[in-house]
Amino acid sequence: MAINEVFDLSGKVVFVTGAGAGAGAGLGVEFAESAADAGADVVRADINLEGAEQTAESVEKLGRKALAVECDTTSIEQVESAVAQTISVFGKVDVLINNAGIADPVPARLHEYDVDNWRRVLDVDLNGVFNCSKAVLGHMVQAGSGKIINIASMSGLSGSSSVFPIPAYNASKGAVVNLTRELGLQYAADGIQANALCPGFYRTRLAGGAYDDPDFVAAVTAFTPMRRVAKAAEIRGPALFLATSASDYMTGQTLVVDGECLAK
Ligand SMILES: NC(=O)c1ccc[n+]([C@@H]2O[C@H](COP(=O)([O-])OP(=O)(O)OC[C@H]3O[C@@H](n4cnc5c(N)ncnc54)[C@H](O)[C@@H]3O)[C@@H](O)[C@H]2O)c1
Repeated sequence: MAINEVFDLSGKVVFVTGAGAGAGAGLGVEFAESAADAGADVVRADINLEGAEQTAESVEKLGRKALAVECDTTSIEQVESAVAQTISVFGKVDVLINNAGIADPVPARLHEYDVDNWRRVLDVDLNGVFNCSKAVLGHMVQAGSGKIINIASMSGLSGSSSVFPIPAYNASKGAVVNLTRELGLQYAADGIQANALCPGFYRTRLAGGAYDDPDFVAAVTAFTPMRRVAKAAEIRGPALFLATSASDYMTGQTLVVDGECLAK
């Protein structure tokens, strides 16, 4: 197979959650645009419909079909409705990218951590992944193929307190990494691959605009061996690897793209 065919998504339908951060912002936007660039039609499901619609235009500009759906991934009913809309418009979901996520609203050590914030972070960052995977997997099993990419974090493979205390994020992303292993095992014989992608520090709108704060950027830059924060677009290549036939013999695994933070 020619190498450009290995990375080709022509005829595929990619469903990305959290792809409504707006043009030029958010890893979900990068996933959606790179999938369209590789030939896929793209569904953008986000709690922020306006953002999803805005960025759906960028998919259409690339000559692909786009569907923007308002969807809070913590609601199984909204997720099932978004997947049902996708099936009625496109007939299938080939790739699910579980990207919607939030950071700890107020970083704090555990004994001072707000209980509602704990529940909210786990609800979005872990339960949302469960809801979307549950809604899509039946269709993938029926089709005998599919790929799930769970956007975890390097914070799911280590603690973060040397930078800031984010226990709910660490707990939920760690759970996503291990859920990915279990999904890989459960569906390996069904032609479905599930892998986790663990970014380091990427400039997006995560954490209420933390990447606009020079002190935050200085701290995470100093923590990163490569001594820079990644551009959001730098996630495109690793995601495309996991979304295409390039990764057909890989499942239940974790791909870390973090400027070497975890190697320390
Ligand atoms: N930016 C980073 O440095 C970084 C590092 C590691 C992991 N991640 C992960 O990457 C993913 C994307 O983050 P980002 O940096 O692009 O953040 P972002 O804040 O720019 O984008 C997140 C998107 O998710 C949407 N969203 C939030 N809650 C939702 C919900 N309940 N239902 C549906 N959509 C919802 C938001 O509206 C937004 O469009 C997250 O899972 C995040 O944890 C980001």
